[in-house]
Amino acid sequence: MSKFDLIIKGGRVATAADVFHADIGIKDGRVAALADALDGADRVIDAAGATITPGGIDGHCHLDQPSLDGSVCADDFTSGTRSAAAGGTTTVIPFALQMRGHSLKEAVDDYHQRSDGKALVDYAFHLIVTDATPQVCGQELPALLQDGYSSLKIYMTYDDLKLDDGQILDVLAVARRYQGMVMIHAENSECITWLTDKLEQAGKLAPKYHATSRPGPVEREATHRAITLAELIDVPILIVHVSSELAVQEIQRAQRRGLKIYGETCPQYLFLTEDDLDKPGFEGAKCICSPPPRNKENQQVIWDGLVNGTFQVLSSDHAPSRYNDPQGKMLQGTDASFRIVPNGIPGIETRLPLMFSEGVGKGRIDLQTFVALTAANTAKIYGLYPRKGTIAIGSDADIVIWDDEKEVTITNDILHHNVDYTPYEGIELTGWPRTVLSRGNVVVEDGEVVGEPGHGQFLPCDPPEKAMPLGRPVIDFQPT
Ligand code: URP
Ligand code: ZN
Ligand code: ZN
Repeated sequence: MSKFDLIIKGGRVATAADVFHADIGIKDGRVAALADALDGADRVIDAAGATITPGGIDGHCHLDQPSLDGSVCADDFTSGTRSAAAGGTTTVIPFALQMRGHSLKEAVDDYHQRSDGKALVDYAFHLIVTDATPQVCGQELPALLQDGYSSLKIYMTYDDLKLDDGQILDVLAVARRYQGMVMIHAENSECITWLTDKLEQAGKLAPKYHATSRPGPVEREATHRAITLAELIDVPILIVHVSSELAVQEIQRAQRRGLKIYGETCPQYLFLTEDDLDKPGFEGAKCICSPPPRNKENQQVIWDGLVNGTFQVLSSDHAPSRYNDPQGKMLQGTDASFRIVPNGIPGIETRLPLMFSEGVGKGRIDLQTFVALTAANTAKIYGLYPRKGTIAIGSDADIVIWDDEKEVTITNDILHHNVDYTPYEGIELTGWPRTVLSRGNVVVEDGEVVGEPGHGQFLPCDPPEKAMPLGRPVIDFQPT
């Protein structure tokens, strides 16, 4: 019997801490050895000259998520994870959404049914709490947080999803007690509704007005309030999909004060601007997401935030709606108000290549920061580290071997999602995943997806505290 199932030879290995040259020996799906030179394997992959990174972890993506507006999430666990794998992502964390009036446990059971046997790569679930009843806060949420579902998202906007401040405090207190990680969508709902009403009354319905209805101060106010609520309860939170300088300033101020406020941003805030919502006809709908892309100055601040440590996580927020589809962006035709266009853009496959090329390749971030933002920190914050997010002895062999010099122009027909467009059409990149391993299995070979649905396993998550000490006592919230 061979010592290893597989050896990856001669690559330049990057983790969040180091970049070094080593062979990687893989046995039973895990990294078994890292050394100058290894021998004795059933299979050897020659990676001479190639960069090798841990498989990406997409800590924010929407797959087969039910919606209430009649739109349909274009990717299920098969198409979504096929697309993820092709782009070098080997773990995805989508959302089990609680419908109001229904139990949270029911949402989790339903989501397991949607994912069982379908994924090509491993996955965990975040919860979305939309109905913070005493039953949910007193029983269901505590039980789930202790049973492998250690993170949850709450919304401050969207009528069907949002919690008020009191409900948010209730949820944060439970998260404190059971060490959950709370992700917050921070936009001021009342301001958005007021501005949207005014825009519609003035006949301003086109996609570009989506950005007008959600300007920076709307995000700033909610970010400030979310931080205040977290400070009251003394619990860490993560502000998701941060788009603007105003929100960045709030997060930085809180971080400087020593609060455990984490930040996530996404490629759309680095590569798109509000001008993309002003494309001819209805085309701008392709880039409607919330918060909206801003201007070039804000883009720069978001890039800076990746470098200066404001952001710990870079996720895709892949929220796939087809464009030319009555169950997608054209839900009510092309004359419809921006208000009823499904929010969200696809990006699960392009996240890593965009950052590898335009971040690392252009010298904006180093390789270690790339790994930290796209894999290691995500694993730590959501309780998957060091099983995921690094290349170390004992870690799952989730690995990307890059074709460092490959020149690729992004077009939708090279992508594997079930969406009929990409907002990144025409962007020219250098570097693309050549070979991708999930637990030692080759799921992408020479750029072709060869993985099968059913290989991907559900990953129970530890409380983040276990992977990354967050420095807070595990006690109930008590007013002093
Ligand atoms: O527009 C967005 N971001 N849609 C996806 C849902 C969310 O809020 O993350
Ligand atoms: Zn959101
Ligand atoms: Zn999202």
